[in-house]
Amino acid sequence: MEVVIVPDAASGGELIAEAMARLLRHTPDALLGVATGSTPLPVYRALTAKVRSGAVDPAHARVAQLDEYVGLPAEHPESYRSVLRREVLEPLGIPMDNFIGPDGTAPDVQAACEAYDRALAEAGGVDLQLLGIGTDGHIGFNEPCSSLASRTRIKTLTEQTRVDNARFFDGDIEQVPHHVITQGIGTILEARHLVLLATGEGKADAVAATVEGPVAAVCPASALQLHPHATVVVDEAAASELKLADYFRHTYADKPEWQGI
Ligand code: GLP
Repeated sequence: MEVVIVPDAASGGELIAEAMARLLRHTPDALLGVATGSTPLPVYRALTAKVRSGAVDPAHARVAQLDEYVGLPAEHPESYRSVLRREVLEPLGIPMDNFIGPDGTAPDVQAACEAYDRALAEAGGVDLQLLGIGTDGHIGFNEPCSSLASRTRIKTLTEQTRVDNARFFDGDIEQVPHHVITQGIGTILEARHLVLLATGEGKADAVAATVEGPVAAVCPASALQLHPHATVVVDEAAASELKLADYFRHTYADKPEWQGI
């Protein structure tokens, strides 16, 4: 995997937005896999700025959801469908018709998971999947010890993740659902390019385990080591536990610019 250390979250957002813009210029109907959480917001802001300046036209882009809470109505402001409509589709001017995601309210959750895996395949697969990372190394909602071959399925959240996510629910952990649907790690690995963004000191241990630890289900993000095109973008704080930080800095500084990430 490639590790890019950037000075701050805004630079990381700009770098990834440029990779998305480059993809859309080449493939206007590319399928972008998007993530929720606070970390990706600088990416969406930078991409929106590029759209407003005319540097890229995302009108034909398609967007795929990574994960969803089970049981929250789609119109709930914190359902991930609502969050993505608000943070990604509306600012970019992408119609909801171009969006696919799992149905977190389906009476048969397992069938909804299988239907979503099929929908992703029928859409031709994700071209670029943006990922955040949980403090415990989770990607999507694949909590520690998730199978590295897993498909989209229902998962139970750890207490830590519910505590981390309570800030989106008025700080009240009781309002955070216990169950979620998430693309599996095997599903995520089928995207053609994986881009993980991590910022802040709170992610430093998870980043070190992802990049320099063994491939192990206890750190789900370490599965990125198995992918032929995975990019990990980290700010200085999130890179602070990386033993090979200088090596990553030097190799990226010497990379031909035309390659992008
Ligand atoms: C949630 C999401 C993940 C996200 C993680 C980290 O658990 N399901 O996709 O990566 O939060 O969020 P943040 O970026 O806010 O730290």
